[in-house]
Amino acid sequence: MSGTLADRIVLVTGASSGLGREVSRAFARQGARVALVARRDAPLERVRDEILTARGRAEIFPFDLTEIDAIPYLVEAVTRAMGGPVEILVNDAAIGAAGLVEDSPLAAYRRCLEVNFVAPLALIQAVLPGMRARGWGRIINVTSGAGRHALPGASAYSASKAALNALGESLRVEVAADGIAVVTFSPGAMATGFHERIPVHGRLAKKFPLRWTRRTDTVAERLVAACRRPRAEVIMWGPARLGLHLAYWQPRLLEWLIAREFARPAREERSA
Ligand SMILES: NC(=O)c1ccc[n+]([C@@H]2O[C@H](COP(=O)([O-])OP(=O)(O)OC[C@H]3O[C@@H](n4cnc5c(N)ncnc54)[C@H](OP(=O)(O)O)[C@@H]3O)[C@@H](O)[C@H]2O)c1
Repeated sequence: MSGTLADRIVLVTGASSGLGREVSRAFARQGARVALVARRDAPLERVRDEILTARGRAEIFPFDLTEIDAIPYLVEAVTRAMGGPVEILVNDAAIGAAGLVEDSPLAAYRRCLEVNFVAPLALIQAVLPGMRARGWGRIINVTSGAGRHALPGASAYSASKAALNALGESLRVEVAADGIAVVTFSPGAMATGFHERIPVHGRLAKKFPLRWTRRTDTVAERLVAACRRPRAEVIMWGPARLGLHLAYWQPRLLEWLIAREFARPAREERSA
């Protein structure tokens, strides 16, 4: 299933910043035509201009993914403007929410599920019939270690990423015979500002700490490689890979380590 990405049409959500920006640039370097999707026009224009300056090809599609019912029209608009159907879908856009379970409003859960799970699902449903008909497609769902083992104070985000993981597992088997690969891609911690933008609800003193960050360009190259030579799941971050093993073999040890990490900022503040 390996191959060139030249001239392929790629739709990247979350293309205005962080990992999505770097993924878009990395696909463009491979000769792919990139449809850049996110809400904010100006950052999208900057990413498009960076790609055009480097002699790549990209178009912007400002769109709010909470407009779920309009997603089929977004995909139609991309198909028209790019001169062909979406062949590679990268579901990268996401939001977070922090708060203890009893303090977090239902709206925070709904919003996380909508942006991080329902919107990627609607995009998949919109592009899948075409991919099946052509016998080729790639769907990359950017998830998180929190989707494999939920984090305290981040249940809404963790639940939404767990749902996306489950969707990928079902879909991968359903479409495998049609030349479509589904990759669950967990990038690990990155200093993109995502963490800082997460709203905190209720009494939570501190968000789960962000540690051992990786560069977005390195992560993006790995995502593009996973598109060329698909694997079921890529977990880039060592602690998340270790967590996966511990969750099965030593679940109590894993919970102890997570609880220790969760308490760390307060402990460090006390000793400062
Ligand atoms: N950063 C980390 O440490 C980390 C760790 C594990 C997993 N991840 C995952 O990696 C992915 C990328 O995260 P990042 O760190 O690059 O975050 P980021 O810089 O905050 O990027 C998030 C992107 O999503 C877009 N977005 C958010 N809400 C949207 C909406 N309603 N409609 C359309 N677009 C929307 C944002 O663009 P606009 O604001 O312009 O709409 C932005 O481009 C996410 O799936 C995240 O869960 C990140």
